[in-house]
Amino acid sequence: MTTADRADTAGPGYDDVLYAAFERRYQQGEDSWSDEGAMRRLVPLLSRHLEPRAAHVLDLGAGRGPDTLALLEAGHRVTATDLLRLPDWDAIERRWGDRVTFLRGDITELDLPEGEFDAVVDNGVLHHQDPAHYTEYLAAVHRSLRPGGLLAVSLFTTVDKRSAGVLNRAEDGRLSRWFTDDEAQSLLNAAGFRTLASEQVGRKLAGLAYLLVVASAVPRGDEP
Ligand SMILES: C[S@@+](CC[C@H](N)C(=O)[O-])C[C@H]1O[C@@H](n2cnc3c(N)ncnc32)[C@H](O)[C@@H]1O
Repeated sequence: MTTADRADTAGPGYDDVLYAAFERRYQQGEDSWSDEGAMRRLVPLLSRHLEPRAAHVLDLGAGRGPDTLALLEAGHRVTATDLLRLPDWDAIERRWGDRVTFLRGDITELDLPEGEFDAVVDNGVLHHQDPAHYTEYLAAVHRSLRPGGLLAVSLFTTVDKRSAGVLNRAEDGRLSRWFTDDEAQSLLNAAGFRTLASEQVGRKLAGLAYLLVVASAVPRGDEP
């Protein structure tokens, strides 16, 4: 990232910017997140909170599908979505048949069945959205979950808990939002989620970490 951007909106045309940024990174093999160890800690954390039975999980922004694979191997059914269709999806479909469904599109525009999922995995996706659309994005996630369903989200954060949250913009225009624990909690609470667990995972990049949160969807009307 290059510039700190204090404005809380991406400006016009951000959908196209985000798509182009991810398309280029995958095409040029710059998707370092796909095999980053710290990224693979979210599904094990979610698994500790899932009931001991096969679940239907939405892998939102699945990328090449590493979490989709982990969930399938754990016995779950998975619907995986992403802005782009990745070539890796073909082999996963061939191997897992009707246990997996891949959908291409923005989560806020896909016509997902309401109340369908026992859990949603958002591994590195929310923090790249336009902050002006966080509410709409989390509403789409909430709608897709059954009452009490779980959201597992991984957000950029800093190891130093005294640092303030910040929105950065890369040269290609892609936004990345670093969250404090308090900011993450208030965002999720306002969207109708109750936090069940929160932990920090250090990254190889000095001073940086992921904030992993598991939260349950409070049924609409039951909010305090
Ligand atoms: C940092 S990558 C993480 C990929 C994957 N979750 C993982 O753990 O490897 C973020 C992914 O989210 C996708 N994405 C970004 N915004 C999205 C949106 N609004 N709806 C669906 N997918 C989105 C991107 O195309 C990209 O593949």
